[in-house]
Amino acid sequence: MGTAFFITGTDTGVGKTLVSAILGLALQNKRKSVGYFKPVETGVEGDEPEDAGFCKAILGLKEDAKNLCSYTFKLPASPHLSAEVEGKEIKVEKILEDFKRFKEKYEYLLVEGAGGLLVPLRRDFLIRDLIKLLNIPVILVARAGLGTINHTLLSVEAIRNYGLELAGIVFNQATQPLTIIEKDNIKTLAELTGAKVLGVIPKLKSISKETLLKICEKLSI
Ligand SMILES: Nc1ncnc2c1ncn2[C@@H]1O[C@H](COP(=O)(O)OP(=O)(O)O)[C@@H](O)[C@H]1O
Ligand SMILES: [Mg+2]
Repeated sequence: MGTAFFITGTDTGVGKTLVSAILGLALQNKRKSVGYFKPVETGVEGDEPEDAGFCKAILGLKEDAKNLCSYTFKLPASPHLSAEVEGKEIKVEKILEDFKRFKEKYEYLLVEGAGGLLVPLRRDFLIRDLIKLLNIPVILVARAGLGTINHTLLSVEAIRNYGLELAGIVFNQATQPLTIIEKDNIKTLAELTGAKVLGVIPKLKSISKETLLKICEKLSI
């Protein structure tokens, strides 16, 4: 049985997919086998889900991108709604089965959520409920810039008040060098949460395996 982490974020678009790929590269550099699993991906128009396709390409995964997801839906919305408009229902059991299969296959499995912690997969079941069932530590991706103190503290509360384990925070889209605000955000959040800062990722001009390989050396995982 491998080790798994749940990659969530303070919001949609904060960089969960990018950070999943970077974390995966960091683990591959340590000669670990790494898998990626995206239980639900929405906004999938064609055959290839974008997040799963990106991580497949960067990490060189053998599975078809589609098979890295339990569910894909067209509407780029919260999973509960994207499923509903297609007349479908997300079954938690199916996600748990797929998770178990991937976890057995790899030494490390990175599970990427959708949106943030309180996003519904069904009207009665949030991402946070899924993490609780999977029973794996959470890595929180947060922005480095203005506004992140409130979003990050709310997310850390949502994790801890629900009895989930916070493995650490990755700050993304940081200016290089860090601005006075970003520097203080990271320091203040480390102090207030006591959480481990796993890394600070700069705003990248180009995103390629080469640039991500350089960044991944700076992560502590
Ligand atoms: N550090 C970064 N530098 C440059 N672009 C970034 C960075 N992090 C994320 N992005 C871009 O921002 C968008 C959202 O990132 P993504 O990882 O898909 O977020 P999420 O998975 O949380 O929705 C993508 O287009 C991604 O390439
Ligand atoms: Mg994503």
